[in-house]
Amino acid sequence: MSNTEKKKLDRKTAKSVFLRLCTYVLKYWYLFIPAVLLTLFSNQLSLLGPKYSGEAIDALALSTGVDFKAVWENVIKMLFCYLLSAVMSYLLATLMIFLSQRIVYTMRRQLFEKLTTLPVGYFDKTPTGDIISRISYDIDTVNSSLSHDLVQIMTSLYTVIGSLVFMWNISKPLICVFIITVPAAILFTRYRSKIVRPLFSKRSKKLGELNGYAEEMLSGCRTIQAYEREEEIGRRFNERNRDAMDAYYDADYHGCIIGPGMNFINNLSLSLVMILGGMLYLFSQNGTVKAGSIFFITLGGVAQFVQYSRKFAGPINEFANILSELQSAFSAAERVFRIIDEEPETADKANAHVISDVEGNVEFRDVTFGYDPEKVILKGVSFKADTGKTIAIVGPTGAGKTTVINLLMRFYDVNDGETLVDGIEARDITRESLRRAYTMVLQDTWLFRGTIFENIAYGREGATLDEVKSAARAARIDSFIEGLPDGYDTVLTDDGINISKGQRQLITIARAMVSDSKMLILDEATSNVDSRTEIKIQKAMATLMKGRTCFVIAHRLSTIKNADKILVVRDGRITEEGTHDELLCKGGFYATLYNSQFS
Ligand SMILES: Nc1ncnc2c1ncn2[C@@H]1O[C@H](COP(=O)(O)OP(=O)(O)OP(=O)(O)O)[C@@H](O)[C@H]1O
Ligand SMILES: [Mg+2]
Repeated sequence: MSNTEKKKLDRKTAKSVFLRLCTYVLKYWYLFIPAVLLTLFSNQLSLLGPKYSGEAIDALALSTGVDFKAVWENVIKMLFCYLLSAVMSYLLATLMIFLSQRIVYTMRRQLFEKLTTLPVGYFDKTPTGDIISRISYDIDTVNSSLSHDLVQIMTSLYTVIGSLVFMWNISKPLICVFIITVPAAILFTRYRSKIVRPLFSKRSKKLGELNGYAEEMLSGCRTIQAYEREEEIGRRFNERNRDAMDAYYDADYHGCIIGPGMNFINNLSLSLVMILGGMLYLFSQNGTVKAGSIFFITLGGVAQFVQYSRKFAGPINEFANILSELQSAFSAAERVFRIIDEEPETADKANAHVISDVEGNVEFRDVTFGYDPEKVILKGVSFKADTGKTIAIVGPTGAGKTTVINLLMRFYDVNDGETLVDGIEARDITRESLRRAYTMVLQDTWLFRGTIFENIAYGREGATLDEVKSAARAARIDSFIEGLPDGYDTVLTDDGINISKGQRQLITIARAMVSDSKMLILDEATSNVDSRTEIKIQKAMATLMKGRTCFVIAHRLSTIKNADKILVVRDGRITEEGTHDELLCKGGFYATLYNSQFS
């Protein structure tokens, strides 16, 4: 893609993002319209201020003597304008905060609602940190831009045009000064911001890298200490720290020239206005310029003009700033919209079955699947699991065992072939009822912030304390829980960090025991508990598994010896199938694996 094409595309996305943001704003029209009106009135009032102050000066400098009444009248009018304008600005700011918070709330809600409908594959592909930074940081950027920049733009436009009109009425020749200074200011800021903008994005990138590195290292602090790599880590961190510092220096160094440069141009323009205005005033005083000529000006006129020229210059100085803030707000909004526009999990078929009284017959027929269609993981896999039977899946790491589970639960859909539950093709069953038919206990346990009771009762809506207690007993975790000061009311911190890995796993097993689904999936479920507990749990599991179809994945073969059927998965195919004894007799991969563990 050529550079110009890219720019055009960017403009197009910027435009669509802008229009889309407008729809959010317009949804709250009852807040936005008052905001626009308040902006107009408060700016109009603040534009009137200089007019009255100028008129007060002229009333003072009257050649026929001082008109005190007019002076006071104008001073009071001026004060009134400024005061009312300030009150209105205050109201406006509060209104905009309210408005932008409403929009942020809506956006966050939409974003999160979308996240709950996305397929598991999306989360496998997208780093969690990235999603979180969109929910918090990007939406925050949009928020500050909405509450600040929007008002700023309206105000700037009104002020620039308004002051120009007032200045035009006071003295046309003086406006000529701006013919030089305004283009100079615009060219200067544009030229500088062209240099500075890439430096600022480099700065954010370097900061992101630094953050990412720190996060990775903090989460691995145990391993780092165990391998005594603290020094190396420190050195690497410092390299990134230095990079970030350099990038900050570059951006801020080049950025800080803009301020003084603009000050210089402003001072120049103000001086020119004063000198030229002073001269015109003198000429008007000594009669060289007659009243009614476009060159005629009073002292109050000069004072007014100077004030308007300052008002006029403000927004023009801010122009580049607002532009870059808007750009970052647009790119943040775009990142948010990209998730909101993400394809949700495909809808269930219109005539999809809702399965309720599941018997638990599961079948794979010639299933072919790859996460990436190019790279096939399972090739023509077929097997049958009858009601109440236990199917064990064994095989080397990366063979595709967890992938089989992903297909059972329809976290992914097969590329070819069929998966059936009670003879019904899984894609003809609603996902909700299909998933309800299964209970899963996974390799990585997931506990949420809440009491132990809540975490176990999560297995089935409406589970009672008695049911939770007997599940805990079956999972051999009851005495540990009862030994805690708060028992079942103990609050687990995020992800259950305050209890051991094995205890976490037992709680998830108890959770599975509470559920009443007909099919059970245990993916390395007992990998974190000691052998003695494992044997105990197996006994409990036997009760749990009775009458349910179970899929068990375990590296420890002792766990699966009693399975009704063992499937050996290697390189995406089922290479061996049968009971423990049959497979031992066969003397294949399973036999080798078993013997290497037990002889
Ligand atoms: N979300 C994913 N996207 C792309 N490829 C994946 C994904 N998950 C797994 N894979 C790939 O699919 C293959 C099978 O992975 P799977 O998790 O099924 O292995 P496994 O048999 O469960 O291994 P383990 O015993 O280590 O748990 C691996 O080569 C892996 O790289
Ligand atoms: Mg696995």
